[in-house]
Amino acid sequence: MSRKVVLITGASSGIGRAAALAFAVADYHVVGVARRQERLAELAEQIAALPAPHGDFLPITGNVTQANDVETAVAQALERFGRLDIVIANAGVGLRGELVATSWQDIETLLHVNIDGVLHAIRAAVPAMQRSGGGHIMIVSSVLAAIPSPYSACYSASKAFISSLARSIRVELAPHSIHVSDFLVGRTETEFNQKRLGKGERKDSRIPNMQPEQVAAAMVNCARRPRNTVVLRWFDRLLLLANHFFPNLLTYLAGRQYR
Ligand SMILES: NC(=O)c1ccc[n+]([C@@H]2O[C@H](COP(=O)([O-])OP(=O)(O)OC[C@H]3O[C@@H](n4cnc5c(N)ncnc54)[C@H](OP(=O)(O)O)[C@@H]3O)[C@@H](O)[C@H]2O)c1
Repeated sequence: MSRKVVLITGASSGIGRAAALAFAVADYHVVGVARRQERLAELAEQIAALPAPHGDFLPITGNVTQANDVETAVAQALERFGRLDIVIANAGVGLRGELVATSWQDIETLLHVNIDGVLHAIRAAVPAMQRSGGGHIMIVSSVLAAIPSPYSACYSASKAFISSLARSIRVELAPHSIHVSDFLVGRTETEFNQKRLGKGERKDSRIPNMQPEQVAAAMVNCARRPRNTVVLRWFDRLLLLANHFFPNLLTYLAGRQYR
C-alpha cells in the first residue's frame, strides 16, 4: 500500500515543524507549507537524514493568506505523491493589545492568516481527499477558542471561528469519509510568543509550557484514532471545565495574562 500523505501549513517552526518530523518518522509523506524557504530546506535535510524507514518531505514556499498558494501546494502534493490523506491547518499568529489601540494592519494580518488561511487549506484539500477516498482535517485552534480573552480579543475570536467551523464541517464532510479534529492547544514553547503581533509577548505563566513535540505526537495518534476534540494537558482540561461553570471568571483571568 502506498504511504499516506499529510499536508501541514506553518511547517517551518514550532508545532508544524514538530508535526512534520513526527509524521515523517511515522512513515507518512509530508508536504510542508510556509513562507520561510530556508527553514523548510533545513527541515527537508533533517527528514532526509532520519533512519529508514521514513516518509519523504516536499517543502513548498507559500503564503496561506493566498488561496492560489495553498491550491498549488495541494496540486504539487498530488503530482508528487498521488494522494492526500490529512491536512493540518496549523499556520497562525497571535495578537496582544486592547482592540481599539491595535493597528488595523495587525488585525487584518491576524484575520487573514488565522481564518482565511484555515479556510483556504480546507477548501483546497477536500476535493483531493475525496479523490483519495476520504481523509482527515486537523484544525489547530486554542483553549482561547472557548475562553474569550480580553487584550487578545481578535486572536481568541479567530480561534473560536475555526473551532466553530470544525464542528459544522465535521457533519458536512462525514458522508465523504473525511473526519475533522479540533485541537484546543494550550501554551506551547515555540516562536509564537515572541512573534505575537501588537504589544508582543505576554507574561509567563507558572504552569510549564507544553513542547511542540507533545502536540505533534497527539496529532500522529489522532491520525491513527480520529477524535473530534483534542485537549492535551490536564491543566487545559481543568480550565475548560471551570469555564463551563464560571465563564466570566475565566475570561477575567485570561485578561490578566494578556494585559
Ligand atoms: N504556541 C502556543 O502557545 C500556541 C497555543 C495555542 C495555539 N497555538 C496555535 O498553534 C499554531 C502554530 O503555532 P506555533 O506555536 O507553532 O507558532 P510558530 O512557531 O510561530 O509557528 C507558526 C507557523 O505559521 C507559519 N505562518 C505564519 N503566517 C503564515 C502565512 N501567512 N503563510 C504561511 N505560513 C505562515 C509560520 O511560518 P513562516 O513564518 O515561515 O511563514 C510558522 O511555520 C498556530 O495556529 C497557533 O495559533 C499555539
